[in-house]
Amino acid sequence: MKHAAVIGIGSYLPERRLTNQDLEGMVETSDEWITTRTGIRERRLAEIDQATSDLATEAGRRAMADAGIEANDLDLLVVGTSSPDMIFPSTACITQANLGLTCPAYDVMAACTSFIFALQNATAAIESGRARTVMVIGADALTRHVDFSDRGTCILFGDGAGAFILQASDEPGVLGIELGSDGKGGDVLKIPAGGSALPATVERVEAGLHYVQMAGNEVFKFAVRVIPKATEAALAASGMAVSDLTWLVPHQANQRILNTVAERLGVPDERVVSNIELTGNTSAASIPLAVDDLYTNGSLHPGDVLALVGFGAGLTWGAAVVRWTKEVQ
Ligand code: ACO
Repeated sequence: MKHAAVIGIGSYLPERRLTNQDLEGMVETSDEWITTRTGIRERRLAEIDQATSDLATEAGRRAMADAGIEANDLDLLVVGTSSPDMIFPSTACITQANLGLTCPAYDVMAACTSFIFALQNATAAIESGRARTVMVIGADALTRHVDFSDRGTCILFGDGAGAFILQASDEPGVLGIELGSDGKGGDVLKIPAGGSALPATVERVEAGLHYVQMAGNEVFKFAVRVIPKATEAALAASGMAVSDLTWLVPHQANQRILNTVAERLGVPDERVVSNIELTGNTSAASIPLAVDDLYTNGSLHPGDVLALVGFGAGLTWGAAVVRWTKEVQ
């Protein structure tokens, strides 16, 4: 059986910065409260004329350049997102057209865990022999769905995109993936309106039902419970232990969540990747963005073992253990 190995990576953050100081002028909050409770100092916002597919396109373009592949080399594009440009066509199809690809393209929606779910699709396609080269993109513009008068949510989210190119290889790259869902927990994090349950009406928009609603404390408790369990399960499926990890790359939702899971897993702080200070929670983009940060600053080397761990609405969670095989350029 062939394995799926990462041969290219790229990411994109929009230019526009929203700092904690900017938020102090918008809601009753303070830079001190936000940094102490979340570790976030600033986040990026997509420009008004940038949709999720535009972020995905730029990340995808950079990943293709990094991998040194052409449009025709790709057999499949999977985009993980929960802020699609529109209900249909899929963000993957729009991105496919932007990049001049001809391969099948579809979206996977698992909120902030979308990238890990999409990675599972890509890996399965390669391992089954149905595809040789696959692009997986995590892209979100969740700030489009945030109520900027709700201080409990508007301080958290930012926009961005990150992409991996995976290719069939004799050398193991993606070693193991564990996914999970608990639909009974759906109420703690949702965007109630805008879908088939509550289609957009003036009344619903005025009531703010198309914005993110979150029971922050419940999500926090869920995250610190599920991240260690998912990481340990994916490591076990890969025949590895926590001590084998070079890097733990958790979904960047809150620095306190990162600190708690590192402690519970017994991973030293310096092995836990964090870029949340400058990005906020970029949802499906956060894990590939964090890995690309490691890659571009020269901290990833062939043989390194990474655990990529996401969680989010659904509720959903997922962890992938990846052996890095690509040389730093
Ligand atoms: N500025 C100042 N005060 C605030 C703010 C703010 N921005 N937000 C809330 N507060 C207040 C609250 O009103 C509350 O005041 P009270 O004690 O007078 O009632 C107090 O601060 C404490 O509020 P909590 O909600 O208990 O604060 P907490 O420490 O839990 O932090 C936070 C809130 C940051 C949202 C945290 O719960 C968290 O990060 N949760 C996880 C969220 C998450 O990861 N979401 C992403 C999921 S991924 C996806 O799929 C989209």
